[in-house]
Amino acid sequence: MPPDSTKYNDVDVTKKSMNKSIRVAVTGAAGNIGYALLWRIASGDCFGAAQPVNLQLLEIPPGMQRLEGVMMELNDSAFPLVHGIIGTDDPNIAFQDADVIFLVGSRPRTKDMDRSDLVAANGPIFVGQGKAIESVASRSVKVITVGNPCNTNALIACANAPSIPSRQFTAMTRLDQNRAVGQIAEHAGVPASDIRDVFIWGNHANTMYPDPRFATIEDVPVTDLFDIEWLQGQFIETVSARGKAIIVARGASSAASAASAAIDHMRDWWQGTNGRIVSMAIPSEGWYGVPKGLVFSFPCRCENGDIVVVEDLPIDAFAQSKIDENIAVLLEERDAVSELLGS
Ligand code: NAD
Ligand code: LMR
Repeated sequence: MPPDSTKYNDVDVTKKSMNKSIRVAVTGAAGNIGYALLWRIASGDCFGAAQPVNLQLLEIPPGMQRLEGVMMELNDSAFPLVHGIIGTDDPNIAFQDADVIFLVGSRPRTKDMDRSDLVAANGPIFVGQGKAIESVASRSVKVITVGNPCNTNALIACANAPSIPSRQFTAMTRLDQNRAVGQIAEHAGVPASDIRDVFIWGNHANTMYPDPRFATIEDVPVTDLFDIEWLQGQFIETVSARGKAIIVARGASSAASAASAAIDHMRDWWQGTNGRIVSMAIPSEGWYGVPKGLVFSFPCRCENGDIVVVEDLPIDAFAQSKIDENIAVLLEERDAVSELLGS
């Protein structure tokens, strides 16, 4: 007899302990991020060990053969939590009744581009996918946009799904938050787990503001431990330029760390943050003077499946200048895609 016969690959498969399966759609499922993301979703890292999933995978026609291979490998992994897998090149099939959607599929930049240079190639993808979400997804769907420029792509998807509440559309700045934690951990010589409440304001772009003012290492403020020159200088520069540094070093944009951050983002949204502050880009409701509707990264907490912006943090002159800079850039991006935002 095995030690616990109700367990299979470490998951308790007793039917009564399982929730009803949820539908999780992933676009660009045969791409680099998709390849890392799907195994983490399937293993229970995102939705928990009692939550089965039906995977609904989207690719474009040239990616369908690679997707077939990915689906074969998923099947070969025999995940107890995976209750079904479909692959399609039709967003209306991939998003049918989806409870969660990871919008990843889109082109990555090369080392001589800024992320905003991708908007002409990638922006139109989010028109059709927004419309498909409007038509067929669950009315309570939770959407994370990873494909770049992710803030503006989330805005486009949201604008094309007018009957879905805008706070169900998010863009990912968690990778930037994780990079900020990584830099602080390295600088202090402590594990990442000792650090909390560092977060990102604004756009997933060079202008982002990784804010260390409320961050602590084992309850000691980071601002008491490091000098302001490092915190307002090299720290911000390293975090905001990290995407390009990885492209230069790897010859390809971040993939495993991006998938891991997408899991962190959605896990926290689904399961809660237990009071911790995390970064999520969401359509502004006017918080901190950010124009309504702009998809902007704010300090957030998650509770009962909802995202709550932390509204009462003091803003000093430096933080205000960074917030203003991000508002300006995002307004420019919004103007550039005005024809994609529907009527
Ligand atoms: P990739 O080229 O390896 O994979 C992208 C996949 O998307 C490909 O398989 C492609 O066929 C598919 N695809 C393209 N258009 C599609 C569409 N309309 N519908 C469905 N699938 C489509 O790229 P990747 O490394 O996986 O990166 C994907 C995106 O994520 C890029 O835009 C990249 O810049 C972005 N990214 C964002 C972050 C972030 O922090 N927000 C981090 C890393 C990467
Ligand atoms: C990242 O931050 O790694 C991604 O957005 C990829 C990129 O283009 O920088």
